[in-house]
Amino acid sequence: MAVVHHKKASRSAQAGAGRSGGADVRTPIDSLHPAGMGPDEAYDLISSELLLDGSARLNLATFVTTSMPERAARLMAETADKNMIDKDEYPQTAEIERRCVNIISRLWHAPESATAIGCSTTGSSEAVMLAAMALKWRWRQARQAAGKPADRPNLVTGANVQICWEKFCRYWEVEPRLVPVEGDRLHLTAEEVVKHCDENTIGVAAVLGSTYDGSYEPVKEIAAALDRFQAETGIDIPVHVDAASGGFVAPFLQPDLEWDFRVRRVASINASGHKYGLVYPGVGWAVWRDEEALPKELIFDVDYLGGHMPTFTLNFSRPGSEIVAQYFMFTSLGFEGYRRVQQHSADVAQYLAEGVAGIGPYDLVSEGRELPVFSFALKPEVTNYTVFDVSDRLRERGWLVPAYTYPEHRQDLAVLRIVVRAGMTFDMADHLLEDLRAKTGDLEALERPIPDQLAATERVFHH
Ligand SMILES: Cc1ncc(COP(=O)(O)O)c(C=O)c1O
Repeated sequence: MAVVHHKKASRSAQAGAGRSGGADVRTPIDSLHPAGMGPDEAYDLISSELLLDGSARLNLATFVTTSMPERAARLMAETADKNMIDKDEYPQTAEIERRCVNIISRLWHAPESATAIGCSTTGSSEAVMLAAMALKWRWRQARQAAGKPADRPNLVTGANVQICWEKFCRYWEVEPRLVPVEGDRLHLTAEEVVKHCDENTIGVAAVLGSTYDGSYEPVKEIAAALDRFQAETGIDIPVHVDAASGGFVAPFLQPDLEWDFRVRRVASINASGHKYGLVYPGVGWAVWRDEEALPKELIFDVDYLGGHMPTFTLNFSRPGSEIVAQYFMFTSLGFEGYRRVQQHSADVAQYLAEGVAGIGPYDLVSEGRELPVFSFALKPEVTNYTVFDVSDRLRERGWLVPAYTYPEHRQDLAVLRIVVRAGMTFDMADHLLEDLRAKTGDLEALERPIPDQLAATERVFHH
């Protein structure tokens, strides 16, 4: 998560005597160098320091793309100087963005009878802010038109939602109604959702792929429950699908699953191009079923070829290169290419899940059958070590496998989660299983419990 950085006492670093063989000098790192150290020394200093970062390919915590074809990376470097908001200056980048929105809206079965509308964003978080704002505006307009108070909006989601939803609620002053996870119910269900809805509900957000375990929330059933709710109460509540990861998985791996605009109540959908859309960060997408779902007051115009182009965005300037890269991936892989890449990730995830279950002390919470993501817990009889110790041990080998607890009511459930993405091979999976087996063996050999060093607050999940 982006941190708010504090000013610290100024420090300096030893630089110069590196690969370039220059003189050894101290250089300030927290304040601007008075003269600049020149590109070679600066490159040496920074690239050396960045070696301390974990290896992106071994980062099994992230959903974000860590491997793209060489040509895509080249195209991104070639277009790094394009600002996507300058539609007038870069009309072809704007055209490519338009094509991407079209491709994605068709992938999500936007009805041919209506004009779907969509835009690129920096990622799913911005897309969620935009879509949730549209829900709030629509709700408020409907309330005002009916002469009813519009000062207490709420939004219903599962407690397992990604933090961007809580962020939206806090920043836009909407009451978050987080449906608790409970027992074996680890995400939002149709039975629970309506219990939390009322006339002040701006919308229900369903997640297609829970960040905690990769499971899909039952969008069609949730929508059907809201249909019944409307029949009983007259209250019409739209559904937004947060398909940050699933938006680029389900169309290829579960094509018959109806989670998208095939479900009439789904008003809008977001996904991260930089997750299973297979692009480096940061690009996301938001699509609305039709113009009615996106209030006109939220749209701003920018100059475009002597006229105006409507935009909906929280930022202004943003790189065009990610949009170009998204179109490159669509064009070069096509439907079948995406299907193959996602199927490979799913095969590796299920292979890994089976391997993990076979080690002994682990119970699978999910198996990688929806997103290529699974999580696993320690069996209750394991008392000498925790999933946090397993995560630490794997880090010694370079693997970044996060451990965390579920939200309130299931904080007793602590899991490790593995996200399989493009670039993870069966060979790497075998190495991971070998390391996990060895580290688990070491931990199993302990004669007494490892002292608990983590405060409960450090176990909260921030992804
Ligand atoms: C379900 C869900 N929604 C939203 C987000 C935020 O996505 P982004 O990182 O693209 O802003 C994530 C990130 O993991 C996610 O899993």
